[in-house]
Parts: sequence; C-alpha cells; structure tokens
Amino acid sequence: MGIMAAHPLIAPSLLAADFSRLRDEVTAIERAGADWLHLDVMDGHFVPNITFGPLVVRALRPHTRLPLDAHLMIAPADPYVAAFAEAGADHISVHSEAGPHLHRTLQLIRSLGKKAGVVLNPATPIEAVVNVLDLADLIMVMTVNPGFGGQAFLASQLPKISALRRLIDDSGRDIILQVDGGVTHQTVPAILAAGATCLIAGTAVYGAADYAAAIAALRAGGR
Ligand code: DX5
Ligand code: ZN
Repeated sequence: MGIMAAHPLIAPSLLAADFSRLRDEVTAIERAGADWLHLDVMDGHFVPNITFGPLVVRALRPHTRLPLDAHLMIAPADPYVAAFAEAGADHISVHSEAGPHLHRTLQLIRSLGKKAGVVLNPATPIEAVVNVLDLADLIMVMTVNPGFGGQAFLASQLPKISALRRLIDDSGRDIILQVDGGVTHQTVPAILAAGATCLIAGTAVYGAADYAAAIAALRAGGR
C-alpha cells in the first residue's frame, strides 16, 4: 500500500516562492527534503487570481526529480489537461465544482498516464467524490477558499477530513488524502489527527528562513 506512512508527505506550494527565482526555489525545496512540489494553477475565472500555466510547468520540469502535483483552479479544466500532462505534471487535480463532468475529467487524466485528483472547496460536501472513488488517486480538502496563499485555516473542515478518512478506509483504496490552505505548525496536529496523509504548505515552508527545518517540523507533526 504505502499510503499510511508513519509521516505525512510534504508538498510545498510554489505559490509562496520568489517568482523571480523559480528555478532556484524549486531546487532549494528538493534539497530541503520536500516529497512533492505543489503547483497552483489559477485562471482568474474559477478563482479571483491568476498564476501560471503549462509553459512554466514545462520550464521547471527538467530542474527537479520531485513529483509535480498540479492543482488546477481553472474552469473548464478538460481543454488544458493534456497540456499539463505533456508539460510534465505527475498528478493532475481538478475541482469538483469546476464541472461539468468530473468523471470524464478523471478518466481523461488517467488515460494520459497521470495520477488523478479531486479537490473539494470548503462548502462542497464529501458526496461530490463518493461516486468517483474508483478514478481518484488523490482527494484534496481545501481548508481555505482557493485563490490566495497565507489565509487562515478553516477548522470547520476538520470533520470533512475525518469523514473522507473513513470513506477511503472503508473503500480499501490506495487514495492519498491531501489538505491545502493554512497548513502551519499550529494547525498540523489537528489535520493529522483527522487523517490527512499529505500536507500542502505555501507560507509555512517558503515563508520560512530555513526550508529544511520548516519541512521537518511539518513532517514531525508540527512539533
Ligand atoms: C490556495 C492554494 C494553496 C496555497 C496555500 O488556493 O491552493 O496551495 O498555496 O498557501 P498557504 O499554505 O500559505 O495557505
Ligand atoms: Zn493548492
């Protein structure tokens, strides 16, 4: 299985990096012990912010061996999925709210040989993913409203993380449970207690003076 590791996977979000030095920021985070690199793609339509697209993913791909965890905050997603796959993303996650056909989108991602993820906004119930578990390699709970880094963690989402933990366990499937937004050394204990297996953190890692120490502290459960 390999999912229920003793320590959570740490996926720093490039959103909080210095965008004038992206290549250096990627190599630094790999050296600092990151497990994955989380890439926040925003379209100014699904979310009220714009970041980068497949060209930047392609440009960074040769400079790291870390799995690239693409979080698509774009609607529609389908027309761009192949471009992110070709650019070198290893995981492609889409919002259940982006529509219109989540099942089809996950099929498309899988057909391109990539791991497929479903992301749930804070107001979205777990039922949004129940009928597509067979196509999901990752489920991501947003613990802020997507669009910006550095927001406060929404503790209202903890019962949702626990409910997804039970759902995944009952399914017997090898699905990684990610939490994204407001992940800090303070919020990590509750997030892990709820059953998350992958922590996505922007500010808490790239905003720290010592990336390696920040990653190690998150992996140790915030202690
Ligand atoms: C928000 C993004 C997050 C963001 C998290 O829309 O999906 O990945 O980078 O930033 P922090 O960790 O600062 O809350
Ligand atoms: Zn994200």
